[in-house]
Amino acid sequence: MAERVIPLVDQRHALAAALPTRPVAATGLLADTLGRPLRDLRISVTDRCNFRCSYCMPKEVFDKDYPYLPHASLLTFEEITRLARQFVAHGVQKIRLTGGEPLLRKNIEVLIEQLAALRTVDGTPLDITLTTNGSLLARKARALRAAGLQRVTVSLDGLDDAVFRRMNDVDFPVAEVLEGIAAAREAGLGPVKVNMVVKRGTNDHEILPMARHFRGTGTVLRFIEYMDVGATNGWRMDEVLPSAEVIRRLQAEYALVPLEPSAPGETAERWGYADANGQHAAQAGEIGVISSVTQAFCGDCNRARLSTEGQVYLCLFASQGHDLRALLRGGASDEALASAIGHIWQGRSDRYSQLRGTLAPDSAAPAGRRVEMSYIGG
Ligand code: GTP
Ligand code: 5AD
Ligand code: SF4
Ligand code: SF4
Repeated sequence: MAERVIPLVDQRHALAAALPTRPVAATGLLADTLGRPLRDLRISVTDRCNFRCSYCMPKEVFDKDYPYLPHASLLTFEEITRLARQFVAHGVQKIRLTGGEPLLRKNIEVLIEQLAALRTVDGTPLDITLTTNGSLLARKARALRAAGLQRVTVSLDGLDDAVFRRMNDVDFPVAEVLEGIAAAREAGLGPVKVNMVVKRGTNDHEILPMARHFRGTGTVLRFIEYMDVGATNGWRMDEVLPSAEVIRRLQAEYALVPLEPSAPGETAERWGYADANGQHAAQAGEIGVISSVTQAFCGDCNRARLSTEGQVYLCLFASQGHDLRALLRGGASDEALASAIGHIWQGRSDRYSQLRGTLAPDSAAPAGRRVEMSYIGG
């Protein structure tokens, strides 16, 4: 039996958010120490999930005794929206709701309505999206769309029912997730993206069946390298299937052409299915590969993460957040909140994936202290 790993609850401790003596005005022009702007805010709305994917919430750790956050710790929707407004004033253009499983948060549509009313510094609506395991999507897609959600990304690690049930580790059938994806498309939550985490020896034989299934449907399939995120998944390099190998396997069946990034700082490298002339066949669609292990994309990482209890994390691999909830509940003004966010971002130098191989000792949290992805969201 595997040795039981004790979750380090105190890894979630936070640095008091800095209230700078020199105010940082929200101009939309904020840059971190590496010159990277702030564009993407990922908000985790719950640390709970009804799945137990072994690469994220392994059952042995996330059992009935796991100390999930108590209700009073969670930011309310009003608190989330108030913070989000300050992030937007600093240049955020895209908001992604994550978890855990965000659709487990009660009345999530109410939060979406509030966020949908925000405007970027240029006065345009935000790109509002959500990452879900799809289990509740068939039931909720229409209400989410009506509330102002623009699109969804669904996690799906295989089409074979037995493989999928084993990977979610709660025996959840693949057919229901596929129904969720169909419901999202029908509700207008497109283009739907599907994220598949590839683990060598576990689901890499599902790469081609997944590509065949989604090719030409308008749904964009992305293959994600299994990452050493968190402290509980027992990550090993030999279980990572490099994206170059994913592309090689796909090219054995389909001709692919590289596509330009659709936005700066994007996680995925895009490839289009090619026609007989080697041109992108738009109706066949595209796939993406997210290669955080073999080809880091920290250079223009513009993502900030807000945890369920109001800590800002500057990197997926960070061990500490910056406590905005304390400021919020301590009566800080909007200007003070914006200034704190500005100050935190200006001090950012995180680029863990780039440094992973070089073992720079103080640039990343040791594995035992890293925050869990179920806590800060993908
Ligand atoms: P789109 O705008 O829909 O293309 O979203 P996205 O690609 O920015 O976001 P998504 O949340 O779908 O990211 C896909 C996966 O990439 C996540 O589930 C993570 O596994 C990984 N990922 C996302 N952001 C980061 C990041 O900042 N660093 C690293 N190392 N991996 C990330
Ligand atoms: N490696 C890569 N991606 C992960 N996710 C969670 N854990 C990992 C990991 N160890 C991502 C997956 C999933 C989303 C919720 O988080 O993309 O779809
Ligand atoms: Fe839940 Fe997503 Fe984590 Fe799986 S990867 S346990 S579905 S939050
Ligand atoms: Fe951004 Fe950290 Fe991911 Fe690099 S490892 S892309 S800095 S979140």
